[in-house]
Amino acid sequence: MCGIVGYIGHRNCFPILIKGLKRVEYRGYDSVGLALLSRDSFEVFKKVGKVNELEGEISNLSSNSCLGIAHTRWATHGGITEENAHPHVDCSKGIAIVHNGIIENCNELKEELILKGHTFLSETDSEIIAHILEEEYKSNKDYIKATLNTVSKLKGSFALLAVIKDLELIIGARLDSPLTIGIGKDEYFVSSDILSFIEYTDDVIFLNNREVCFIKRDSLTLMNFDGSEIKRDIVKVAKELSDLSNKVFEHYTLKEIHEQTQVVRLALLQDEKRFKTFLEGIKRAKKIYFTGCGTSYHACVLATYLLAKFPKLTSEALIASEFDSIFELIDKDTLLIAISQSGETADLLSCVREAKAKGAKVFALVNNVNSSLVREVDLFLPLNCGPEVGVAATKSFIAQLALLYLISLSLKGDNSMIKELYNLSNSIEEVLKLEEDIKRLALKYKDSKDFYFIGRALHYPIALEGALKLKELSYIHAEGLAAGELKHGPLALISDGTPTLAINPSDETYQRTLNNASEMKARGAKIIGLSDENNSLYDDFIKIPKVMEVFYPIIEVIPLQLLAYYVTLQRKLNPDYPRNLAKSVTVP
Ligand code: M6R
Repeated sequence: MCGIVGYIGHRNCFPILIKGLKRVEYRGYDSVGLALLSRDSFEVFKKVGKVNELEGEISNLSSNSCLGIAHTRWATHGGITEENAHPHVDCSKGIAIVHNGIIENCNELKEELILKGHTFLSETDSEIIAHILEEEYKSNKDYIKATLNTVSKLKGSFALLAVIKDLELIIGARLDSPLTIGIGKDEYFVSSDILSFIEYTDDVIFLNNREVCFIKRDSLTLMNFDGSEIKRDIVKVAKELSDLSNKVFEHYTLKEIHEQTQVVRLALLQDEKRFKTFLEGIKRAKKIYFTGCGTSYHACVLATYLLAKFPKLTSEALIASEFDSIFELIDKDTLLIAISQSGETADLLSCVREAKAKGAKVFALVNNVNSSLVREVDLFLPLNCGPEVGVAATKSFIAQLALLYLISLSLKGDNSMIKELYNLSNSIEEVLKLEEDIKRLALKYKDSKDFYFIGRALHYPIALEGALKLKELSYIHAEGLAAGELKHGPLALISDGTPTLAINPSDETYQRTLNNASEMKARGAKIIGLSDENNSLYDDFIKIPKVMEVFYPIIEVIPLQLLAYYVTLQRKLNPDYPRNLAKSVTVP
């Protein structure tokens, strides 16, 4: 994972790098660092912690550097220490690198380098890149050759940036981790994500796999790993991505939960022709699989219910990292639908590549339309919910669900239900008014050790999602369970006072879920009912508005997001930055 940022131009790069880092902090926030190069100095700063902590420490820096690279880390190799923070330097301290990805052959490369006399200061796989580049540059003094030789030695995945003390340029390279170059007037930005520099320029070049770039203040050279030069068109990206202000809300997570009033409407805004082709692809497929990770996987589970319920199609949902167990079944008659907010999730991308290699058609529902996923699939539909910064997926889930409903209902040809779908925004506004009630519940249950969410049919994926939100933000152990499964084991976990949230709106699952909740209550559980209908069985009750039965999943997940958020605040934790996680999981 990790986020990398670089700048070369005519401005002081320190504030640009700091701002850029804050925008990619969702990719990891274990430690932070930057290397600044100017005519008379080459300085490296690093710190365990978040970007603003480093910024606070060196804010008095009167740097006049117009060239720098920076990094925010999600630890893979080596603990969370200052030594392991990037940038890493070579033995001569004349080369600095930042890296996102994993170098799989780092041990053997390290052994070779140690034999040549190199000394390593960190436990990371990344540091070897600085030392290889040092070796290569020392032997031929040609930075292009040195770079190409370096990348040819690396196995695994990487997006990397490097600076060499006596050269005024940034070197970049990419293999399976994203890297994008922003083009200004006599200045260049480079980053894992265009969000880092979008307010400076909307002219970008996406580096493809197995490409390197050499960025000088007044020129940009792109090459394949084999040294052949490449010409690439500049792409204009949507400026509205720059709307990242977080003025009204205390956290991005809360801001994004509140943005959900707009999200359904925006997700339904699809290009007619593209949407029709998507539906045709589904109709033509003999086998349909959905895949995703985390929250996006929960959307996949709901998708299988919706396809079964409306157009009566059979499909299967699989977690992306589990997909290889059924690769033998994938062939040219298969349609794989990949669902992702970021479009950069490594497990998902490798699944997509494998399916394509087997001749399958691959479609995607994705929020980041500039992502690797978009460039690799046959067709995608955008979620249109704007950048999601909070590590917990919230609004992107609602957008995924809305789009899946649209697809399923369109395949069935049910226009009156589609109309109802457009009207859901009002009910979402109503649900958000529950905030004060949820705060009270959060206070009551903040010290729970375990928490269960139960639901049947369409509500089961929402139970999974409610549990994921609570565990990832508040660190309370939580599980989402199919209500009918309780008797088959989980009931043994229930003891006096165990909170269980029953997702139980008044639809065809109502009575059976109520019975299951009653069985839990008889064994001591405290039941929180989430429904449009109260019941004397409930110890606590969250009343959601009445909507058309099939649409309850879209609105019932919102109180669960709010519950996770407020329990987290009660436990004095930061919901935007849960420990050990990153927004975008770009390592397999
Ligand atoms: O960007 P993606 O949708 O592919 O991400 C998938 C998961 O990593 C993501 O949903 C993760 O589980 C979130 N932290 C859930 O809130």
